[in-house]
Amino acid sequence: MPKRIQSIRGMHDILPAQTPAWQQLEATMRNVVTGYGYQEIRLPVVEFTELFARSIGEVTDIVEKEMYSFEDRNGDSLALRPEGTAGCVRAGIEHGLLHNQQQRLWYSGPMFRHERPQRGRYRQFYQVGVETFGIEGADIDAELILMSARLWRRLGLSNLRLEINTLGSIHARKVYRERLIDYLLAHEDQLDEDTKRRLHSNPMRVLDSKNPEIQAIIARAPSLLDALDPEPAAHFAQLKVLLDHAGIEYRVNPRLVRGLDYYTRTVFEWVSDELGAQSAVCAGGRYDGLVEQLGGRPTPAAGFAIGLERTLDLIEAHKGTPQPVAPQVYLAMIGQPAACAGQALAERLRDEVSDLSMLVNCAGGSLKAQLKRADRSGAEIALILGEDELAKDAITIKYLRKEWDQKTIVQAALAPFLKTALATPDGHQ
Ligand code: HAM
Repeated sequence: MPKRIQSIRGMHDILPAQTPAWQQLEATMRNVVTGYGYQEIRLPVVEFTELFARSIGEVTDIVEKEMYSFEDRNGDSLALRPEGTAGCVRAGIEHGLLHNQQQRLWYSGPMFRHERPQRGRYRQFYQVGVETFGIEGADIDAELILMSARLWRRLGLSNLRLEINTLGSIHARKVYRERLIDYLLAHEDQLDEDTKRRLHSNPMRVLDSKNPEIQAIIARAPSLLDALDPEPAAHFAQLKVLLDHAGIEYRVNPRLVRGLDYYTRTVFEWVSDELGAQSAVCAGGRYDGLVEQLGGRPTPAAGFAIGLERTLDLIEAHKGTPQPVAPQVYLAMIGQPAACAGQALAERLRDEVSDLSMLVNCAGGSLKAQLKRADRSGAEIALILGEDELAKDAITIKYLRKEWDQKTIVQAALAPFLKTALATPDGHQ
């Protein structure tokens, strides 16, 4: 037997039993973001590697270790997108969507990171993201947070906690960076290899180290909040006022720095204690410098992205998996002439009964075998077209889920029958 080919580690099939939960989640998300006036943008999965290096940052885990980058047949260095913000900014600049305009955009789709797979962490995972451009006040930061809070309410998730922080201006970050390097150098003998490597290249990332010994050192490190310039400090204060006003609970976490370099000012994460080590379900913030950094005019910007696998994990823990959607009707046909006439009848029914969901028996079989398939499909009603029915232009109707005598009616009466039967909750008429 030839060797079976398997899916790639960390990249999962989403099977029919799971897709109803995905569809419900995606529909709810689409509904919420559209309700806030966000418009969908669809972006390529592959971009030039340089786009991610220049936006996410050369010295980040994502770019250094996790990108699926490769040379294509033209010798260009391309990468599977590890996230959606960079591509969205690229598209906004390329198509003139950003200059002197306000934009509220959303996207969804797969992202790729070569991380070590574990619960909640995959190499292909799905995000729904939103990005706003041209709005600089804290009001848009608050809108993003309120919109995500509404989404959790719609999904029935009540155990998510909001953490917020400000990274200040680029200037304040520079000042703080020096202070932090000095502090870490004073403890150099206690630092692990990773931290030593990051010390000069990207010391801010040391702040969210997962190593407990490093965390203990960081706990006594100077805080970025003490280095803030007045304007970003006022912006952050205003955000807190807006959140208080809206009754949104949050915790200011001065160690929240995020793993991507493009952030300025507000950053936030929604976290859960129920997800193990991968606790962030949704994360985002402002990135006021990125549009300019990628060749556009200076444009304030902010957004977030939600991880769909982690969100589904939480929904399942609270509400279980939704049932797959069964067809309403199964059409069984006995004999070749009936099989021919049956497909034509099914097409007429699909024209006449809107939203009808019907499985048409294929590959023949005895009546018993066909009714068994009908039962397994979960359909409410079986329609039987045999020789007798065919001769009389009739059809037999059989309820599969309840005690009910079957009856034969003329085919002309079938569409009105189905409309009523499928509209009334108990199906009888
Ligand atoms: P991020 O924090 O890298 O931010 O990812 C956002 C969310 O995607 C995470 O909170 C998590 O739920 C999910 N996620 C990330 N990596 C994985 C993985 N390997 N497996 C499963 N889920 C994962 C961004 O991507 C930014 N682009 C967010 C943003 C948009 N900031 C501004 N606008």
